[in-house]
Amino acid sequence: MQFSTFQQDLNTWQGSTLIFGIVEEDLKNQLEKIDFIIDSKLLQEKINQKKFKGEKGKILNFDFFDQRLQTLKIIGLGEGKNINSNDIKNSLADVIRKSSDKEEKISILFPWELINSQEEIQSFGESARLSTYKDNRFNSKRDDKKVLKEIEFLNINKFTNINFNETEYICEGVELARRLVAAPPNSLTPLEMSRQASKIAEEHGLEIKILEKNECENLGMGAYLAVAKGSDLEPKFIHLTLKSKSPVKEKIALVGKGLTFDSGGYNLKVGASQIEMMKYDMGGSAAVLGAAKALGAIKPDGLEIHFIVAACENMINGSAVHPGDVIKASNGKTIEINNTDAEGRLTLADALTYASNLKPDSIIDLATLTGAIVVALGNDVAGFWTNNNMMAKDLKTASSQAGEELWQMPLQKSYKDGLKSHIADMKNTGPRAGGSITAALFLEEFFDGNINWAHIDIAGTCWTDKNRGINPSGATGYGVKTLVQWIKNKI
Ligand code: BES
Ligand code: MG
Ligand code: ZN
Repeated sequence: MQFSTFQQDLNTWQGSTLIFGIVEEDLKNQLEKIDFIIDSKLLQEKINQKKFKGEKGKILNFDFFDQRLQTLKIIGLGEGKNINSNDIKNSLADVIRKSSDKEEKISILFPWELINSQEEIQSFGESARLSTYKDNRFNSKRDDKKVLKEIEFLNINKFTNINFNETEYICEGVELARRLVAAPPNSLTPLEMSRQASKIAEEHGLEIKILEKNECENLGMGAYLAVAKGSDLEPKFIHLTLKSKSPVKEKIALVGKGLTFDSGGYNLKVGASQIEMMKYDMGGSAAVLGAAKALGAIKPDGLEIHFIVAACENMINGSAVHPGDVIKASNGKTIEINNTDAEGRLTLADALTYASNLKPDSIIDLATLTGAIVVALGNDVAGFWTNNNMMAKDLKTASSQAGEELWQMPLQKSYKDGLKSHIADMKNTGPRAGGSITAALFLEEFFDGNINWAHIDIAGTCWTDKNRGINPSGATGYGVKTLVQWIKNKI
């Protein structure tokens, strides 16, 4: 999809579909902006008939079959003083998604004077594009019907440096994450995941290391390998590095849970546990690889960024881990596996130890880690934990700029008792109550505590059943935009 701006005299503008954003104040004045293409007085009458005042989220559609402008869609943006770029993004996305199979070009005229930054304009382009995402890879009839090719912003004279290239890169990262998450487990295996990572490395000049099973054994990754043991597919430990041309000011590691399928193991997922959806248990690693693709193109200077995924499957066979086994992670700590379905934290234990050994300033891990976070926060909000207040602040800022909802959860130390084992240093599972918190406390055992760390549980947000806002139903690509924004805010 192409993004463009039209800065010339509007009387020379040509196009057939216009989205016109209106705030609640001074309707007449705002409508006059459209006189270059249709009579605003006539429009005002029609709007009055429909009792439209510019209320937030309200949308009016007009078709003019005999005029230069054929379709006009008016979006209510609510009160100008309360204008909120996430609301705009979502209304815009809803309108554009519905038109994307009919129109080749859609133009947008908004009260740009109320928008503060060109980054916000970029994010409108981003939402427009992401809302039209379609995935037909697994259909024999590849009828995707999408005809929309261009989004044009009219009359933005206020901003001169809009970087739509960056928008493009971020969208490609999110779309990669969505494709990875939605791919079925017989297609996206650990091997395929490592190939996808190699492709990113080739395209954008990142360094790549894929550690095979024996190399992971040599590093003592007993937790990760315990999970992989019951699968016929080889585990692949993926490590991408994005180097900086200028001296490194900050070193960052992004770690993603990469279970290409989670059957639960011998604690098999039964009943309403949605075993058939567990292809998306690599949502964390999809976000990390999506961010690698976007950042590989953006090339933020002065940062060295590591992308780490311990990819494998959680399956059952004669060599699978038993409930009750005691294993040793690569930092030497022993773990009693009292539940084989709490496998993500075992793979992350070794991935975090590996990341910690790289001596980064900060680590963020993303994981579809617990059903408990879905119970706590539902499907629109992800939970995060951190050992550092600055990190909390920066992550909240980045997620709100990115339009991905994030809520801080407590690292409640008193719950650590729940992980006590009679036989090993710890168990991998605590009591049911506060399950997403004990999971975060478990992770905290596997890296140097001086490193700033945040853990984001995306079990609820990596997939949606609704067709809404910038997310068509299916994989959301949650996390890519927040990670990229968090990094961009450092440069
Ligand atoms: N992959 C699941 C978590 C999950 C659940 C993701 C629902 C998306 C939707 C994870 O490996 C898991 O099975 N967690 C268990 C942990 C429990 C055994 C302590 C859970 O949440 O039930
Ligand atoms: Mg599990
Ligand atoms: Zn899992």
